[in-house]
Amino acid sequence: MKIGCPKEIKPQEFRVGMTPNAAREAVANGHDVIIETKAGAGAGFEDADYIDAGARVVDTAEEVFATADMIVKVKEPQAVERKMLRENQLLFTYLHLAPDPDQTHDLLASGATCIAYETVTDRNGGLPLLAPMSEVAGKLAPQVGAWTLQKANGGRGVLMGGVPGVNPARVVVIGGGVVGTHAARVAAGMGADVTVLDMSLPRLRYLDDTMRGEFKTSYASKGNTAELVAQADMVIGAVLVPGAAAPKLISRAQLSTMKPGAALVDVAIDQGGCFETSRATTHADPIYEVDGIMHYCVANMPGAVARTSTIALGNATMPFMLALANKGWKQACADDVHLLNGLNVHAGKLTYYAVGEALGLDVVSPQLVVKQAA
Ligand SMILES: NC(=O)c1ccc[n+]([C@@H]2O[C@H](COP(=O)([O-])OP(=O)(O)OC[C@H]3O[C@@H](n4cnc5c(N)ncnc54)[C@H](O)[C@@H]3O)[C@@H](O)[C@H]2O)c1
Repeated sequence: MKIGCPKEIKPQEFRVGMTPNAAREAVANGHDVIIETKAGAGAGFEDADYIDAGARVVDTAEEVFATADMIVKVKEPQAVERKMLRENQLLFTYLHLAPDPDQTHDLLASGATCIAYETVTDRNGGLPLLAPMSEVAGKLAPQVGAWTLQKANGGRGVLMGGVPGVNPARVVVIGGGVVGTHAARVAAGMGADVTVLDMSLPRLRYLDDTMRGEFKTSYASKGNTAELVAQADMVIGAVLVPGAAAPKLISRAQLSTMKPGAALVDVAIDQGGCFETSRATTHADPIYEVDGIMHYCVANMPGAVARTSTIALGNATMPFMLALANKGWKQACADDVHLLNGLNVHAGKLTYYAVGEALGLDVVSPQLVVKQAA
C-alpha cells in the first residue's frame, strides 16, 4: 500500500501523523511511505530522518494526496485537504464529525473511507487513540498550573512542593480518569498535597488501591467539592461525561470563596469546560483572571509538547495503521471490531450512529458496509 502523510495545516498544530519509526515499520511491512517535506519539523523530525527510515519525501501535499492509498494525519482534514480526497482512498486521523456538518458533508461527497481515531475502542471500553493525548494533557496540567501560580503571572505565589517549614500547595483534581490520574501523579511528584475527586466509587476504589500514599481520594459531592475548592491553591478540571458537554462544577459565585490568586486549570475546556468562568484560550495567551482567580483553559494542551505528543500518538496508532495497510481496511475492520468502531464514513455513507444522531443524517451499519464491500 502507498501510505501518505501530509504536513498538518491547522493553525498551531505542530504534530505529525507518522513518526520516522512508524514509517520504518510500514516500509519493513512492504509498504511505500510518502511524506510531505517538513511534515515532521514541528515535532523535531527532519526530512532526513524519514529518508533514513525508507520513506520518500515529496514537495507538496497535492503529491501526497494524489499518490497515497491511505492518508495518515493528526487533525481533521481542512477544507482544502478534503477537496483532495478521492473515492477508494482511506483516511486515518482524528475527525470529530458530530459538531462539524461541513466536514461530514465533504467527507461523504469525497467517496473516501474515513476511520476516526477518537471512536476506535479497546477491550476495556476505553478509547486507545484518545488516551495518549489525555495522558499528555494530564501530566502537563500541574506544570502549567504551577507556572500560573507564580506571582508574576498573577498567581498566589505558592511553590508546589513548599520547602522545609512551609506547607506545599494544595491541589484538587476533579475527575479521576486518564487526565486526572496523570495530573495527580505529577502534582504529587512535585511535592504538592493532592486530593482527587470523582463521582465513580469504583474509580475511587481503583485509585485508592493503586495510588495509595501518592494522593488522597474524595467523593465529588457538591459539599465536599466546595469545601476542598475553597482550601485549594490549584484546581484541575478533568471530568468527562462521554458524548455530553462538561458539567459546570465551580460557579462564578464560588470564586469568592477561593484563595485570591488560586489557579484553575480547566483541561475539560475542549468539552466546554467544567468551571462556569472558563473560556478557551491558546498557547499564545493561555491565562486570564476572573474575580481574582487565575484561569488556564488551553483547548489543545498536547500541542505545547508536540514531540512527546507525536511519539505517544504514533505508538498508539501504529498497530492499527499496520493492520489497515497489511490487510486493507475491509479485512482489518472485519477482523477487529474495535477498529470497525472507528469507521465513520465509507463511499458516501455515514457509518457512525452518534454522528448521524447529532447531525440528523441517515446511518448505515458499519458491519453491513464491511460485508457489502467484501
Ligand atoms: N484540553 C486538552 O488539551 C485536553 C486533552 C486531552 C483530554 N482533554 C479532556 O479532558 C477531559 C477528561 O478526559 P479523560 O480522558 O480523563 O476522561 P476519562 O473518561 O478517563 O475520565 C473522566 C472522569 O470524570 C469523572 N466524572 C464525570 N463527571 C464527574 C463529576 N460531575 N464530578 C467528578 N468526576 C466526574 C468520571 O467518573 C471519570 O473518572 C475530557 O473532557 C477530555 O476531552 C482535554
